[in-house]
Amino acid sequence: MKRLRLGVNVDHVATLREARKTVEPDPVTAAMLAEQGGADQITFHLRGDRRHIQNRDVRLISEMAQTMVNQEMAATDEMQEIALAMRPDSVTLVPEKREEVTTEGGLDLLSDSSRFEDTVATLGESGIKTAAFIDPVFAQIKQAAKIGFDAIEIHTGEYANAPAAERPAALKAIREAAEAARKYNLGVHAGHGLTYHNVHPIVKISEIEELNIGHSIISRAVFVGIEQAVREMVTLMER
Ligand code: PXP
Repeated sequence: MKRLRLGVNVDHVATLREARKTVEPDPVTAAMLAEQGGADQITFHLRGDRRHIQNRDVRLISEMAQTMVNQEMAATDEMQEIALAMRPDSVTLVPEKREEVTTEGGLDLLSDSSRFEDTVATLGESGIKTAAFIDPVFAQIKQAAKIGFDAIEIHTGEYANAPAAERPAALKAIREAAEAARKYNLGVHAGHGLTYHNVHPIVKISEIEELNIGHSIISRAVFVGIEQAVREMVTLMER
């Protein structure tokens, strides 16, 4: 049975640890167990303010992961240096604002595009694949291709948060964005706000090849354990 790749985002395990500034729960252990549950990739967001994932987590996950490693990060010199040292399989560039609770909206690739070009070129030279986290907007997809990204990650937050009446339109925008990206030869990933309840229509979009999911899986893991939570999501991603 064919299915999408699942990247499990372990940030929220680190959020719980940082609530007490202690050593548990450990996102590195979570990553290892997520792999046992069938994750194809471990995803984390190393933020400039280190509110959840720490450098030590990145180092250990990079060393220990048996699957792919995807580092979400802002296009800053500091993060680029860390990525070049840790060599994740892929980097997903995301916008980052200090005040936000979580990533809000996609990147604007049309402004400051030379910075993105530099980051994509530098990481690419080191064999690191790059993806741009963007809203399902045609101009952004075209710009992602122009800059030289390998893939886009379509921001699914608007779809996830839409009231039922607005959900079909949000889904249509994602479907059209996925089709457009394929025409530009970009890989198509998606993520943000996806849950056991809303993932099914996204799985049905054949151009999408990878989902990155965090909050919903870690929330379920509190009750059933992370291996089981990942296993359940993997099952929902079969096509
Ligand atoms: N993809 C990207 C680029 C993100 O920034 C996040 C949140 O860190 C996710 C996926 C996962 O989102 P969620 O935790 O809502 O599943």
